[in-house]
Order: sequence, then structure tokens, then C-alpha cells
Amino acid sequence: MTTDRPVALVTGASSGIGKETALALVAAGFHVVGTGRDTSRVTPLEGVTLLDLDVVSDASVTAAVQEVSERFGRIDVLVNNAGVGSMGAAEETSVAQAQAVFDTNVFGVMRMVNEVLPHMRARRGGRIINISSVLGFLPQPYMAAYAASKHAIEGYTESLDHEVRDHGVRALIVEPAYTRTGFEANSAKPEIPLHVYAKQRQTVDRVMAEAVRGGDAPAIVAKAIVAAATAPKPKPRYTAGPLAGRARVLRRLAPAAVFDKQIRKMNRLAG
Ligand SMILES: NC(=O)c1ccc[n+]([C@@H]2O[C@H](COP(=O)([O-])OP(=O)(O)OC[C@H]3O[C@@H](n4cnc5c(N)ncnc54)[C@H](OP(=O)(O)O)[C@@H]3O)[C@@H](O)[C@H]2O)c1
Repeated sequence: MTTDRPVALVTGASSGIGKETALALVAAGFHVVGTGRDTSRVTPLEGVTLLDLDVVSDASVTAAVQEVSERFGRIDVLVNNAGVGSMGAAEETSVAQAQAVFDTNVFGVMRMVNEVLPHMRARRGGRIINISSVLGFLPQPYMAAYAASKHAIEGYTESLDHEVRDHGVRALIVEPAYTRTGFEANSAKPEIPLHVYAKQRQTVDRVMAEAVRGGDAPAIVAKAIVAAATAPKPKPRYTAGPLAGRARVLRRLAPAAVFDKQIRKMNRLAG
């Protein structure tokens, strides 16, 4: 089947930001394919075609993209939203744990991009929207592996954008701040808990849990993603919500010492 309507493929649409984004893209006029690792357990979303996809598996990525291409004949927008968190001090995080985070958050994105780009280039059009985070440009003590994965996505996406623009494709970044989803509960916990970090880790965990509880609704992020998908002249990056916007301004303009102090204060670290 081919369609005149634009087609959007959203990874991690079984919950949170991805679910809201899939629904918002339907409202914006897209055919939407939303994915999760086991969509038989997902409540159907109106107007969204659900498809199984595990972004850590080459075979799963290839099969899913092929199925979308065969069913719809086009992929106009790819939203790389699937992601996992990882809590704990850097020293408490094994290399295997960090590799698992990168396999989803970074290599999962690369797998999707490599598979979808030939389809976009063939039609000389398309948008790749990678969900980063304010932790793609801010440090986050006790979430170093996760922050590293989102910093990686920023460098990857900006570089990719310069390559694909010549082929009618854009690669864009959306940066949410704390958002009210199951993200924190779904985050990996430290594999090697060390007594020396326990007290401060619990404090930071509490700070994060409070921030997520009081954070933005996922619909705010979905709105930024729809803007990135539909703007006639898209910006390379979109912050989602006022806190993310303020964080970016602070990162750009605040003197290093002021910024450093603010990070320690927010995380209730001494000095
Ligand atoms: N919530 C926040 O405060 C926040 C802030 C900034 C950025 N973000 C980013 O926003 C994105 C969405 O997170 P969320 O807050 O909506 O969390 P969430 O509710 O936990 O959603 C994560 C989604 O990723 C999917 N997923 C996880 N591993 C996957 C894999 N290997 N293959 C395919 N899908 C996978 C999950 O689907 P299944 O489990 O069904 O497979 C789920 O749909 C992530 O990239 C996250 O880093 C979140």
C-alpha cells in the first residue's frame, strides 16, 4: 500500500512521551506507526499502527523498517524516542550496565537511522527527530552513564544533520526536561552499590523523583516533537517546556563557576 499522507515511525510509543507523541502526530495528520518491545501488552492507541521493535536488535530494526516501508511505501518522520535511564554513581555503574544504556539510547538510534535513511534519501525528503534531554547538555551527578548517552546523541545528531541536509533530510534534536512518565521507575539501578555513595545517591534519587513528579506533562514534549516534524524551516534543536528552555540559556550564558555551583546546589551536594 502507498499513501498520500505522511508517515511517522515513533520508537517507544508504548508509554510516556512516545505514546503522547504518536497521538499528537495522528492529530497533526500523519499515518503513525508506534513501536514497543511487546505491543501485545499495549492498549491500542486510536489511529496508531502498533509494531514490535527492539532497538537493541539489528534483526528487529531491519524487519520493522522493512514492514513499514512495504505497508506504507514511505517514511517521512522517524522519532527516535525509545530510551532507558540509569541511576547510580559512576563508580557504581559497571561497564556492562553502561553498555546496555548506550545500546538502547545511542546504538539503538544509530541502527534506526542507518535503516531508515536509504528510504528517506530515495524520496529526497524526511526528518529524523532524536529525543535527547537537558542531560544532553547538562551534567547530572549519579546519572553519569545516562547523561553521557544523551551527550553522545547531541554530537551524533548535529553531525548527521550536516551530512543528510544535502539529500533533503534533516536530523533534529528535542530536549525535554523532567517529564511525568514511568522513566524513573524504568531506570536501571546501580549494579555495584558502594556504601561511600549511598547517602548522597539516595538524596539525588529523591531530588530526581520530586522533579519528575512535578515535571512537564508528556504532551508538552509531544508538542515540541510535532513542531520539529512539521515546521517548514525546522530549527536544529527544540527545548521542550519552559524549564528546558531556561536550562539551555543558563548553560550558554552563566559563568562556569556559577553554573558549577548551581548544579551542586540542585543536587544537594556540599560546597
Ligand atoms: N521522563 C523524563 O523526565 C525524560 C526527560 C528527558 C528525556 N527523556 C527521554 O524521553 C524518552 C522517552 O522516555 P519516557 O520518559 O517516555 O520513559 P518511558 O515511559 O519509560 O518510555 C520509554 C519507552 O522506550 C521504550 N523502550 C525501552 N527500551 C527499548 C528497546 N530496547 N527497544 C524499543 N523500545 C524500547 C519503552 O517501550 P517498551 O518497554 O514497551 O519496549 C517505552 O515505550 C527517552 O529517550 C528518555 O531518555 C525523558
